[in-house]
Amino acid sequence: MYSRIAGTGSYLPDKVLTNADLERMVDTTDEWIVTRTGIRERRIAAEGQMASDLALEASRRALDAAGVSASDVDLVIVATTTPDMVFPSTACILQSKLGIAGGAPAFDVQAVCSGFVYAMAIADLFMRAGKAKYALVVGAEVYSRILDWNDRSTCVLFGDGAGAVVLKPGPDPGILSTHLHADGGHHHILSVPGQVCRGGVTGHPFVVMDGGAVFRFAVKVLAEVAEEALAANSMERSQIDWLIPHQANIRIIEATARKLHVPMERVVVTVERHGNTSAASVALALDEAVRDGRIRPGQNVMLQGVGGGFTWGAVLVRM
Ligand code: COA
Repeated sequence: MYSRIAGTGSYLPDKVLTNADLERMVDTTDEWIVTRTGIRERRIAAEGQMASDLALEASRRALDAAGVSASDVDLVIVATTTPDMVFPSTACILQSKLGIAGGAPAFDVQAVCSGFVYAMAIADLFMRAGKAKYALVVGAEVYSRILDWNDRSTCVLFGDGAGAVVLKPGPDPGILSTHLHADGGHHHILSVPGQVCRGGVTGHPFVVMDGGAVFRFAVKVLAEVAEEALAANSMERSQIDWLIPHQANIRIIEATARKLHVPMERVVVTVERHGNTSAASVALALDEAVRDGRIRPGQNVMLQGVGGGFTWGAVLVRM
């Protein structure tokens, strides 16, 4: 059995934070942010709104779209860097909020901005092995909680949100192939180097980043992993109907598309309205393009993640 995307959903918190708002908070300008990143606004979770709350709304929408009842879900995977708490996992909390706590496996995946792609790859393996029938795969983040709002070099880049898909079995793919990679040798160029320790926080509990190094690494590996996925399926670049790269920065997205010779008309871009929502970004963009009718049944969609670790990966899927 193969796994097919049966439905998608997403959810964004109500509060919009524009570049003009940020101009009042740190020494930045709308012009700097737009030209360097393409981002115009991002969403910020309300006080007390947790990753599992955003995940719950996105999951409900994906289940509705799939026509699958929550009680049929037998695998829950949540990709998040900003879990509700140290433990239990956000996936277990989501399972409980969905009212389906009853024995099926639920766990989080921590691969930062590659999280959704990692989670899809893991769910696909469960499905192919016959270990799950209806998998709920979610990316959910409240990045606003791990940003230093005085650090202009990072706080303008990220936002909060969630996206979800429901996978169901089918005789044909569906997910054609998945490709995951990591190189921990680059862990220092993007990290939150803090931890909960003896009742306090030790280290630095906010995002720190070498922006230039991240930029160069991301463009290189996104193009490489796309070629790897195409080769594994004996497909040409021209057969990619839609490219959905991690939504970090319009310049990374454009550079990747250029390297792959995929015209921007076939690239889904949401970064201008969401900023970088880390593990949620690919799922959010996928849902938007499915719902507005751009992505149609039978089309080939390349999902790509890249992020802290460093981690990267691709999922090539026929819709
Ligand atoms: N507003 C105004 N100036 C800012 C700024 C802001 N929000 N943030 C940084 N700057 C300043 C820096 O202090 C630096 O000033 P200096 O030269 O006086 O030291 C200067 O802008 C750097 O400018 P530049 O070199 O032109 O920036 P850039 O083209 O490298 O763009 C990033 C910076 C962060 C946008 C870019 O490196 C990037 O997108 N990196 C990838 C980030 C990312 O996607 N991370 C997540 C990946 S999962």
